[in-house]
Amino acid sequence: MPRSGEASRGVGMPDLAIRTQALRKTYRTRRGKRVVAVQGLDLEVPVGGVHGFLGPNGSGKTTSIRMLLGLVRADAGTMMVFDQVVPEHLPDVVGRVGAIVESPKFFPTFSGRKNLELLADAIGAPRGRVGEVLEETSLGERGKDKFKTYSLGMKQRLAIAATLLKEPELLIFDEPTNGLDPAGIREIRETMRGLGEQGRTVLVSSHILAEVEQVADTVSIIGHGRLLASGTVAEVIGGSGRTTVKVAIDSPIDSPLGDPAAQREAATRILAAAGLTVRAEGNYLFVDGAEHPADVTRRLAQQELYVSELIPVRADLESVFLELTADEGLGGTR
Ligand SMILES: Nc1ncnc2c1ncn2[C@@H]1O[C@H](COP(=O)(O)OP(=O)(O)OP(=O)(O)O)[C@@H](O)[C@H]1O
Ligand SMILES: [Mg+2]
Repeated sequence: MPRSGEASRGVGMPDLAIRTQALRKTYRTRRGKRVVAVQGLDLEVPVGGVHGFLGPNGSGKTTSIRMLLGLVRADAGTMMVFDQVVPEHLPDVVGRVGAIVESPKFFPTFSGRKNLELLADAIGAPRGRVGEVLEETSLGERGKDKFKTYSLGMKQRLAIAATLLKEPELLIFDEPTNGLDPAGIREIRETMRGLGEQGRTVLVSSHILAEVEQVADTVSIIGHGRLLASGTVAEVIGGSGRTTVKVAIDSPIDSPLGDPAAQREAATRILAAAGLTVRAEGNYLFVDGAEHPADVTRRLAQQELYVSELIPVRADLESVFLELTADEGLGGTR
């Protein structure tokens, strides 16, 4: 695959399949209200692997994708796909891109295979590709069955198969797991992982982090049409600056501080006074914001409260996501 961007961005920088800068889109509703859907989005999707495009409902994912594909015009900002400025140079790159934005139309009474053959003829893809893409999306055995007998998950995989006919380097899927059951979600996830492992770039949007967390190599999290965080899953978690420690207190039962519950209360006061955030859960305290777990031990020991367990809890992407998007629940109207 061509890598023309290397020289312009300098050595060591990853090649980008997609890059947007200061991308902006405002809709006007029929009643004349302005809705800022995307406001200054800087998105970078590296070449190769699965990139999760995450954000709550109404955060601007579909609008961004539609702008990239030339389906909606941006108000401002720049967009590049494989180092070509789009939508101006979309014709030069469109052959390298496959996308599912809306559910594609298939003929219900034709088999999946027949549908793909018709499509292959229409777009000039070799018919020999049809069997391959059916295999790639695990539809091989059901290819000869009528489309209308397919489950939702199979229909969605046929849509993915259709995008693969042209062997695109970049695949863009807008919420491909919407409405699917856990088994259907898993099948789509496995298909995406396979595509990423082949060296293709997959941009997959979702408002449900858990659906892409396991398959994404890198992620971008957006809220109100702006980038909130991006990087590898590990970087996004690490960059959140969170260390939570789970603490159990075990002072002597005859402690002047009282019974275990009273000791936990005393510990909560001491840690909160030191500027840490403390949450009680069962017999444990969850302490946030300590620079080092030993700080917690030291502060408590100074007050004769002894820690029997101290477990650093790794922040997961879900909690980072919820934290970043906490005030994003109601969509892009402002
Ligand atoms: N055609 C339109 N006219 C007016 N407002 C629109 C239009 N399309 C989207 N919007 C608004 O723009 C904002 C962003 O919508 P968008 O569909 O891009 O979000 P999304 O992240 O894809 O959400 P979801 O997770 O629900 O699919 C929302 O406030 C939405 O109501
Ligand atoms: Mg959407």
